[in-house]
Amino acid sequence: MRYRKVPDETVRRMPLYLRGVRVLSERGQSNICSKSLADYLGVSAWQIRKDFSYFGELGKPGVGYDTSKLDKQIRRILNLVRSHSVVLIGVGNLGSAILSFTGFGQYGFNIIAAFDCDANVIGKKKGHVVVDDVSEISRLKKNSVDLGIIAVPASAAQEIADVLVSIGIKGILNFAPVYISVPKKVKIVTIDIAIELARLPYYMSSGQSQGAWE
Ligand code: NAI
Repeated sequence: MRYRKVPDETVRRMPLYLRGVRVLSERGQSNICSKSLADYLGVSAWQIRKDFSYFGELGKPGVGYDTSKLDKQIRRILNLVRSHSVVLIGVGNLGSAILSFTGFGQYGFNIIAAFDCDANVIGKKKGHVVVDDVSEISRLKKNSVDLGIIAVPASAAQEIADVLVSIGIKGILNFAPVYISVPKKVKIVTIDIAIELARLPYYMSSGQSQGAWE
């Protein structure tokens, strides 16, 4: 399915809508309106309708959205219809926490392998994987993994990204606080909690209001 150019902010909100739709569906709501989804998520109904409008008609005006249909439509838009295999590099504090988190499965993400360079970590079971030696990573069959998570120190992040690209990974979630250069065909998203924290005091001092999910 092809869509007109969709703003990144809209794409960023779509997984949030998916989560909201699922919760409301689990609560027995087979049909929802944008207002009930908006109230649950703490965003505006206008924003939801505007975001959905980029993808054509997802619901019927005045009738609302069939939750199971909407769930499927959003997953199709986000390319989450099939499951995605994920590899994690760097099993320290953050990497261990990620491996023990059980919530990725609901979006179809399956962490199939984890790598580190520390002999004290290699061979240990974390979550449901046994940590492998990072020098063995090229043994992963080319294009057998969709996504990579980088949780190594900043000094090692570029080298690890290069290895991930060489085994055909097309998407990287990077936690290292550093710019990583990848070929155009690879999508990289960097998450930095310190940067997020660092913008909060601005809003506190300016008195400006900010949405809960921005
Ligand atoms: P950590 O020191 O506990 O873990 C790093 C792990 O990476 C260690 O197990 C180490 O052996 C491994 N490692 C180092 N070089 C490697 C290489 N070349 N190949 C494979 N494994 C290698 O560090 P922590 O606290 O888990 O942080 C990991 C990264 O995430 C750091 O870059 C840190 O700055 C960042 N971080 C980011 C946060 C965020 O919000 N984005 C929050 C916390 C940490």
